[in-house]
Amino acid sequence: MLTAKEIKPGIWWVGGIDWNERMFHGYTTEAGITYNAYLIIDEKVTLIDTVKPKFADELIQRISQVIDPSKIDVIVTNHVEMDHSGTLPRIHELAPSAEIYASAPNGVKEIKAHYGLDVTGVKSGDSISIGKRTLTFVATPMVHWPDNMVTYCPEDKVLFSNDAFGQHFASSKHFDVDNGLAEVMYQARKYYANIVQPYAAQARRALDAVKALDLEMIAPSHGIIWTEHIADILAAYDEFCSGEVKEKALVLYDSMWESTAKMAKAICEAFVEEGVPARYIDLKHMHESDIMTDFLDTKYVCVGSPTLNSQMLPTVAGFLTYMRGLSPKNKQRVGLAFGSYGWAPIGPKNVGKQLEEAGFALPVDTLAQNWIPSQEALDGIQATVRSMIEAGE
Ligand code: FEO
Repeated sequence: MLTAKEIKPGIWWVGGIDWNERMFHGYTTEAGITYNAYLIIDEKVTLIDTVKPKFADELIQRISQVIDPSKIDVIVTNHVEMDHSGTLPRIHELAPSAEIYASAPNGVKEIKAHYGLDVTGVKSGDSISIGKRTLTFVATPMVHWPDNMVTYCPEDKVLFSNDAFGQHFASSKHFDVDNGLAEVMYQARKYYANIVQPYAAQARRALDAVKALDLEMIAPSHGIIWTEHIADILAAYDEFCSGEVKEKALVLYDSMWESTAKMAKAICEAFVEEGVPARYIDLKHMHESDIMTDFLDTKYVCVGSPTLNSQMLPTVAGFLTYMRGLSPKNKQRVGLAFGSYGWAPIGPKNVGKQLEEAGFALPVDTLAQNWIPSQEALDGIQATVRSMIEAGE
């Protein structure tokens, strides 16, 4: 039987667990996903968010364990993306008199566009009473759509934070203390790097607003609920939003006949020799969403491709497209393009152009190697890497 979980007296988790989902918009979700919805039993029965349409029956069964869904009086839609609002029409059918709240103006517009439903718009600082409890809304635009808001209940000191502070992590244990903190924090970092990163400035404003609240619980719409590690996740977001980079290097490449691979290995070893932690990654073997999790605070980023026909390899182009879409702050990052070629150095040169357009500092010229690098050429990479590090000081 699908069970609801009481997370505080009168507040129930009634979400869906997507144990086997492995992809969310090009982002690999190796630990699955949850769509958390919360039911508050008060004078006005209130549902905070819903779930992805595929999990409608799961949501309704869990609500039904606590109360007849037709008794829902209030539905708060913190965010209209369909993983949270997709079951709103089903709930509306079951509880047609329930008043729906969403942010004004964007949440209201988006709900009308998606479902044609009437909504009451609320702004930052607005509150509603649901009986013994108050719900106060705080706008968090672009974390991660224009409509996003969070909902705070001061009587219970609970923040329903929607996408913010979430993680793609499926577990039947709902709280941070009951799960391995290292894995949950990794998934929170991966979520930030791949979903929230483009909106770091807005995330910073949202974080500052949240820090001012008296909190006993942060209940996001994905993953586990923060109770004992609230300070840890707030500190982690502080670091993520800062965009600050550390002295470490990533060497990302693909190769056809191992020449570019030899260069990648020599670059990686050169960083290590200079005392900078480094790793080299064949783009055929690691997903870009995992790479971006590491990239988040990496200062030195070296990207290599041979020339394939008149372009770079598609794996490298795919990574660069994905990375640039996430708009990382690259001003403080030092880049290097490299790669082997037969008769035209187009692959490595085009990588260099993309890094330049993405805002990287490129203190040394692209390393374009005709055919196979000699030992002398590989040994020369040490000086190139040293120059990069000196330029980054
Ligand atoms: Fe989890 Fe932006 O939706």
